[in-house]
This record gives sequence, C-alpha cells and structure tokens, in this order.
Amino acid sequence: MQHATVVVSGTKIAEEISSSRSEVWRLIQQLRGLGVDVAGHPATGYRLRAVPDLLLPEILRPMLRGTLFEVHLHHFYKIGSTNTAAMAAASEGAPEGSVFLAEEQTSGRGRGANTWQSPRSSGIYCSAVLRPPLPPSDVLVLSLMAGLAAQAAIRQTDSRLQPNLKWPNDVLIDGKKVCGILTEMNAEATRVRYVVVGIGINVNQANFPKELQATSLRLVSGSEWSRVELLVALLKSLDREYRQFLQNPDGKESILRRFAENSSWLHGKKVRIEENGSAFEGTTEGLDARGFLQVRTAHGVQTVLSGTVRER
Ligand code: BTN
Repeated sequence: MQHATVVVSGTKIAEEISSSRSEVWRLIQQLRGLGVDVAGHPATGYRLRAVPDLLLPEILRPMLRGTLFEVHLHHFYKIGSTNTAAMAAASEGAPEGSVFLAEEQTSGRGRGANTWQSPRSSGIYCSAVLRPPLPPSDVLVLSLMAGLAAQAAIRQTDSRLQPNLKWPNDVLIDGKKVCGILTEMNAEATRVRYVVVGIGINVNQANFPKELQATSLRLVSGSEWSRVELLVALLKSLDREYRQFLQNPDGKESILRRFAENSSWLHGKKVRIEENGSAFEGTTEGLDARGFLQVRTAHGVQTVLSGTVRER
C-alpha cells in the first residue's frame, strides 16, 4: 500500500518480510484470491494496480483518532458473521469500542430469522461492541440511535441523497433498503452486560434480486463509493451519538425526537405489521417513551414490540 502503483521486486518484498521469493508469490496469489488487484509475477516484480478500498485497521485507525473505535479494530477477509464474532469476543471480555469488520460474510444475519447478503468487498459489514451502563429496556433506543448514525453518515458522504428511516432501524432510499441493523445483547434483568450493534450497508453492489426490495448507494447515486470514507463517517457519527446519549440527561428523548423528525414512517403512514406469525393493519402514530412504534387500528392503539413494518 505504501508503494501503490509502483513496481516492487519480489526480492525486495521478500527481504522486507524476512521471507523467500516463492513465499511472496504464494502470498500474492492468496491476496489475488481475496480480490486485491496485483499485476506482475516473480520475474518482473509486482504492482498494486490501485489502492484497494479495503477496511484495513491500518487505514482506518488514523482517521478514527479520538473516537471510541480507534483502538480495537479487527478485520477479516471472510467470516461467518461479524455479529457472531463480536458477541463471542464480548463474552470473552472484548472492551467497549471493539469493532469487527469483514470484506465478506458467509452467514450474514438479519433481524428475526432473516439472512443478510454480504458479497465480497461490495458492502460494509461492521459490528461494534458497547458496554452501556443501562437497563436492557433502553437498548431499543440505542438501536434507533445506530439508525440515525447510519443515516447521517450516508447524508454526509453524498448530500444529494435523502435516506429515510423505517422503524426500528432500516435506512431506505427511494423506498428500498440500503442499510439494516441487528442489535444483540447479553443482559441481566436490570443491567446490560454488553451490546453488539451490527450494521450492514449496501454500498457498491451492482444489482439485487427484485424480491429483496433492496438497493445500493452506487445504484441510487450512479457512482462507486469509497467504503473506507463511508465507514469512517459511520463510526464517527456512532461515537458522537453514543457519547451524547450517555452524557445528556435528555439523551433518550433527543434520539426519539430526532428519529421521528428523520423518518417519514412514524406519523400517518398506513402500514401492515407482521409479528410472530400474525399480522394487523393500521396507521402509525409515533413512538412511545421506550421507542416502540404505536399503530392506530380499528381496535385502538397497538404497540409494535418487534415484527416487520410494511407500507400498505
Ligand atoms: C436487518 O435489517 O435485518 C439487519 C441486518 C444486519 C446486517 C449486519 S452486517 C454486519 C452484522 N453481521 C451480521 O451478521 N449482521 C449484521
């Protein structure tokens, strides 16, 4: 990366990593297999064709100085699920602010029983460990907060876009999903031990199966995005939101208010709610004080505890 687009001989690389030219060849082949664009061969030397848009800690760390997420960054080329890895690490004591990033997930998980398509180096697959001094009942608000942070990061990177929030924390553009959030926790009845906020953003995907009702930032904006730039904006935004949430006495109310201001779904939207195998219809009537969606139905106002919200 320090000599991007310059030809570097196999001998020089071998010296630098105290290894042999044949080992360098083997490693270059491995990098190519992972999608890194390296030209050349042992006889001519190697050339990194372009600085790859990889979510490497060495690249991210300097840009995340002063945030909660600067120190414990973990990057994987391929992993089952960053949320699974982050939950396991948190149970082993991983500190607050640990971040798990992957170029590709082979078993990306969504809310409920959904999966999350995670093709190589097209999206952002990111899970952060938090240890908030809160009761488990406040974790929904934390999850809404992550939606606000993702929306702000997208807006900040391309001010022409108008990302919309759909409760609890999907980010939609033109009615299609570009970002999903899976917040998981380990808690006692009154106290959270740890939370993992898992964020998936569709960034440079060129197409989606129609039935997914999804899109990517590249598809809506017409050009390729830097995942590094977007991820840095996301983690900075999450850092800012999280600090405010914990420090401000009215942090919770501020998130609920701003979520409502930044979502066109919260008031007067005709929706169908699918929850635990049954469904009902109504019109949205905002959030209650805990962050649950309120829906007016023919039988009065109902509170949506989990479930999927669809437009009718
Ligand atoms: C949803 O909308 O259903 C939530 C999707 C969450 C996907 C992210 S990608 C990073 C993290 N790892 C996972 O396995 N899931 C979350």
